[in-house]
Amino acid sequence: MTYVIAQPCTDVMDKSCLEECPVDCIYEGGRALYINPVECVECGACEPVCPVEAVYHKDDLPPEYQPALESNAAFFRLPLAGKAEPLGNPGGAAGVGPVAADSAFVAALPPKAAEQ
Ligand code: F3S
Ligand code: F3S
Repeated sequence: MTYVIAQPCTDVMDKSCLEECPVDCIYEGGRALYINPVECVECGACEPVCPVEAVYHKDDLPPEYQPALESNAAFFRLPLAGKAEPLGNPGGAAGVGPVAADSAFVAALPPKAAEQ
């Protein structure tokens, strides 16, 4: 069980959610942020602060955002572009810093500007 960052975050990356997470389990990718599903303690603090309503509890994801569940998990479970090893569960985003890569799902999304 976990909270999930869905497609509205892509190319927006407001980062208000980062300030709220008590366990520092929200990690920064190239075009979006990702919640580590193993490290998330489901406190819910990140959800209301996102200005574009990108954060949902796993069980409350609207149908169009369902792919984000696997996308958030894959960011940690699969090796990212240019890396030999997966990120795994590092125990805190501060020690990792921004990662210049995204899940395959987010990387394939059209740029936000092109949608308008
Ligand atoms: Fe993204 Fe919203 Fe956080 S835009 S970085 S999920 S505050
Ligand atoms: Fe962190 Fe709580 Fe959200 S543990 S990712 S602020 S639900």
